[in-house]
Amino acid sequence: MAKPLTFTCTACGATHSKWSGRCEACGEWNTIVEEVPLSAGPARQTLGASRGAQIHLSDLSTEETPPPRTGSGIGELDRVLGGGLVPASAILVGGDPGIGKSTLLLQAAASFARKGLASLYISGEEAAAQVRMRASRLGLTEAPVKLAAETSLRDILTTLEAEKPDLAIIDSIQTMWADTVDSAPGSVSQVRAAAHELTQFAKRRGTAVVLVGHVTKEGQIAGPRVVEHMVDTVLYFEGERGHQFRILRAVKNRFGPADEIGVFEMTGQGLAEVSNPSALFLSERDQPAPGSVVFAGIEGTRPVLVEFQALVAPTPHAQPRRTVVGWDGGRLAMILAVLEARCGIPFGGLDVYLNVAGGLKIGEPAADLAVATALLSAREDAALPADTVVFGEISLSGALRPVGQTESRLKEAGKLGFSTAIAPERSKTGGTKLTLRPMHDLTQVVGDIFGAG
Ligand code: TYD
Ligand code: MG
Repeated sequence: MAKPLTFTCTACGATHSKWSGRCEACGEWNTIVEEVPLSAGPARQTLGASRGAQIHLSDLSTEETPPPRTGSGIGELDRVLGGGLVPASAILVGGDPGIGKSTLLLQAAASFARKGLASLYISGEEAAAQVRMRASRLGLTEAPVKLAAETSLRDILTTLEAEKPDLAIIDSIQTMWADTVDSAPGSVSQVRAAAHELTQFAKRRGTAVVLVGHVTKEGQIAGPRVVEHMVDTVLYFEGERGHQFRILRAVKNRFGPADEIGVFEMTGQGLAEVSNPSALFLSERDQPAPGSVVFAGIEGTRPVLVEFQALVAPTPHAQPRRTVVGWDGGRLAMILAVLEARCGIPFGGLDVYLNVAGGLKIGEPAADLAVATALLSAREDAALPADTVVFGEISLSGALRPVGQTESRLKEAGKLGFSTAIAPERSKTGGTKLTLRPMHDLTQVVGDIFGAG
C-alpha cells in the first residue's frame, strides 16, 4: 500500500494533507515540505500490540518534595534555571547561529562536571577536535566532561543508556538523525523524533538533557516549535551581533519563574557573568542627550535599568519610517497614536527610530512611559535631566497606570545614583529616597516635563 503523504510546515510544524504555497496555520509562504509520517518508520511498533499496564493514580495532596537541584556555580545560569539543574529535566536552549550557545553550554558542562555531575557533551555540528580547541581557549581542558562528535540518534541513545550521565548536552537538535524517520536531518519530523526520544530518555533515566536549537530568522526554533512543548524549560540566548552582551532568557520553565534573565558578556575567554546588568547597560551612556531616557524595568525577578534611545527626524519619504530595535513595533505605533490623539503631538512626516541600548529586548508595558518620554525628548530636542528614571504604563486614553514592583525599580535606580523618578501617580514608593514626579496622564508629562502642549 502506498504511504499516505503528509505535508508539514517548517515554520510552525502544522501538518496538512496536501501541499500549498502558504501554510494555513501560520500564514508563512513556501514553508510546506513533504514529510513521511512518523508512524511509517520501519522500526516502529504500534502501541496496540500489547495490553497496557494500569496507571497508578494519586490525589492532589500527594506530598512532593521540591526537586533536588545542582548549581553550576555560574550564578546567571543558575538563576535562569530557577536555582540550578533539575534531574530528569529536558531543556531547550535556542538562539541565532553564532550567538554563543555552544560556548555557553561547554562552559556549563564543565562547571556542572566540576560540581560532581557526570556530564556528556555531544556535538553534531563540530568535530571533537574543534570542541577541544574551544575548551582549551576557555581554559576548560581539565574539566571531567566526556565528549563525542556524533549525529546518529540511535548510537547516541545507546551510549547514553550505557553511560547514564547526570547531564547530556546535545548540540544541536537540528543535526540529529533518527534512522526511523525517512527525512533529512533538520526537517520537522527528524527534529520532533529526536527531541521526543531524548526527552523520553531524560524522564526514564533521570538525566538532565539539554537540547540546543537554532532559531530561524522568524525567531522560532527552526521549524519545530513542537520541541518547545515537549521540554520542561525553554531558554533563549539573545543578543546583538557585534555587541558583547548576551541575555539568557527563560521563556518557559516548569521548575522556576519564566521571564528570568541571565546576563553575560562575550569575551576572548568565553562568556563572563554580568551580575550587575544595570551598571553595564548604562555604562555606554554619555551626557544627557535628547531622545535618551533611562527606564527602570523588571526582568523576571530582578530590576534592570536600561536606556531607550529615540531619534525623530523629518522624512524624505512619502511614508515615514518606524524602526524599532528591542521593543515591540505595534506598541510603538500605539504610543505614537496616543501622543497624537490625546496630546495633539503629530508624528506624521517624521521618521521615528527607537532603540534599546545594549541589545536587551524589553517586553514590559511598564516601558510605555519611557518610550513616550524618549519620543517627546527627541521631538522637542530637550534632554531629560541625567538623574531621572522613567516607568509607567500608558492606556489608550492617555492616562498613566501604576505598574508592579515599583519599590524594586526605585531601589535599583537609587543604587545606581538616580534621584528622580517620573512615574504614574499612586505608584507605591516604599519609603524611597528618590523624588517622585507623579504624573496623571500623558498631557501632564508633555506640559510639566517638556513645557509644551
Ligand atoms: P558559538 O558558541 O559557536 O555560537 P553558537 O553555538 O550559538 O552557534 O559562538 C560563536 C561566536 O562566539 C564566535 O563568533 C566567536 C565567539 N567567541 C568569542 O568571542 N569568545 C570565545 O571565547 C568563544 C569560544 C567564542
Ligand atoms: Mg554551536
